[in-house]
Amino acid sequence: MRVTATTEAAGSTAADTIVVGLLEDEAVVHDVEDGVLQALVDAGEARAKPRSLAVAHAAGKRWILVGLGARASLDAEALRVAAAVAHGRARDLGARTLCWELPHKAGEIHPARAVVEGTLMAAYAFRAFKTKGSGNGDGDGDENGGGIEELIVSDHEDRTAAVARAVTVTEAVNAARDLQNTPANAMTPTALGERARSVAAAHPDTLSCEVEGRDGIVARGMGAFAAVAQGSDEEPALITLRYEPPAAPADGVPVLGLVGKGVTFDSGGLSIKPAGSMVDMKYDMTGGAAVIEALGAIAALELPVRVVGVVGATENLLGGRAMKPGDVFTSASGLTVQVDNTDAEGRLVLADCLHHAIGQGAQRLVDVATLTGAIMSALGRVYAGFWADDEAWAAQVAGAAAEGGDLIWRMPLHDRYAELVKGSTADVANMSPPRTGAACTAAEFLHNFTGGVPWAHLDICGTAWDSGRAYAPKGGTGTPVRTLVALAERVSRG
Ligand code: BES
Ligand code: MN
Ligand code: ZN
Repeated sequence: MRVTATTEAAGSTAADTIVVGLLEDEAVVHDVEDGVLQALVDAGEARAKPRSLAVAHAAGKRWILVGLGARASLDAEALRVAAAVAHGRARDLGARTLCWELPHKAGEIHPARAVVEGTLMAAYAFRAFKTKGSGNGDGDGDENGGGIEELIVSDHEDRTAAVARAVTVTEAVNAARDLQNTPANAMTPTALGERARSVAAAHPDTLSCEVEGRDGIVARGMGAFAAVAQGSDEEPALITLRYEPPAAPADGVPVLGLVGKGVTFDSGGLSIKPAGSMVDMKYDMTGGAAVIEALGAIAALELPVRVVGVVGATENLLGGRAMKPGDVFTSASGLTVQVDNTDAEGRLVLADCLHHAIGQGAQRLVDVATLTGAIMSALGRVYAGFWADDEAWAAQVAGAAAEGGDLIWRMPLHDRYAELVKGSTADVANMSPPRTGAACTAAEFLHNFTGGVPWAHLDICGTAWDSGRAYAPKGGTGTPVRTLVALAERVSRG
């Protein structure tokens, strides 16, 4: 979809369909003909209730009135949802060029950004493995052929820059969704490494990528990562991306380290998952996908901050060489780890990747992982779990998430959780004896490997998939790409 900004009135653009948001107790601002739109409101047919839709035809165009709720509660999320539902109706009605008339006096919530995000995310469909093209009448919503070809964002203020940024970021989100949705037999660790390489190749002057296989991982002493990989014949990949901005960052801007769990399929290993829990385990690489695509967006936006991205990609299977419960491995940091449960593999991979990111110069860390089912019990698919060991850094990450529109909820670190992952045979154990508090003990496990660098951990197990949001209801959500890009922006501002 092409996306442009204009200061022209929506009705004077070439769009065949105009979207106008309705706010509670506020009149239609720019009406057409003899007040056709306000008449629909007055008749009770068009309402300000969120997700409510009404359609009119006037002045040779189609007008979609979409509810935005009350102005007091209008935020970016309300606009994303409105954009998604309006997009759905417009597509069903055969629209080709859509123009959004932005609500007035909403500048501080980045309305252009929200409308672009909501529309482009809603328009996303994963059809890579469908042999029948669109318009095939299979009921999946694309019966009108190619769908919407162009989105025009109309406002009194020039929103060109905001629109361009939003397109870059949302394309990165949708690219991460592609990686998530691709089945594990195609999205292997090698394929994820290839994607990282091609993202870097698009920015040859600023973004570099190195992919190391099993030998490299072993040679680096990454015994915890290698232990997970040894149960699979599929070559693992340690992916290191380095973004060096075109202009030197301001003094005191720290090197940002982004670390992603890239388990391309998690069977649980010998501590095997029941079939019902295994079925979606291709999305266990979401953290890695987010890191790779966020780096692409950061490079495209030429943000003045150095960023190191590290993704540990491997399968977790149960081949003849697979790690066994009770096995002990030595991590790259030197700490020994006892594997009490082979299904707690993500923290093994991340332990070595966090250590590696610090070795690559990271001065602030964020790791992103589909780490524990327990966080889904706690927060469902609404909030991601968020841990941090430094208040200033926590505030930066929380601010970035709020701006990005990814919901995160602070969870506790505590010595008593750390106690629970002390090993009996080795220094640390990858699972705590009581099954309770598993998301918090997982965080404290990782904390052993952060080397005193300010660190935040996002457990995105719930929010990565089937979010039920209007703009990403099923499958991969591409979270938290928007947060990671917003974080790099914040860090670059010092
Ligand atoms: N990849 C899973 C977590 C997961 C669960 C992701 C559901 C997406 C949906 C992770 O590797 C895992 O298996 N965690 C275990 C840890 C336990 C053995 C301590 C879990 O949550 O059960
Ligand atoms: Mn697992
Ligand atoms: Zn896993």
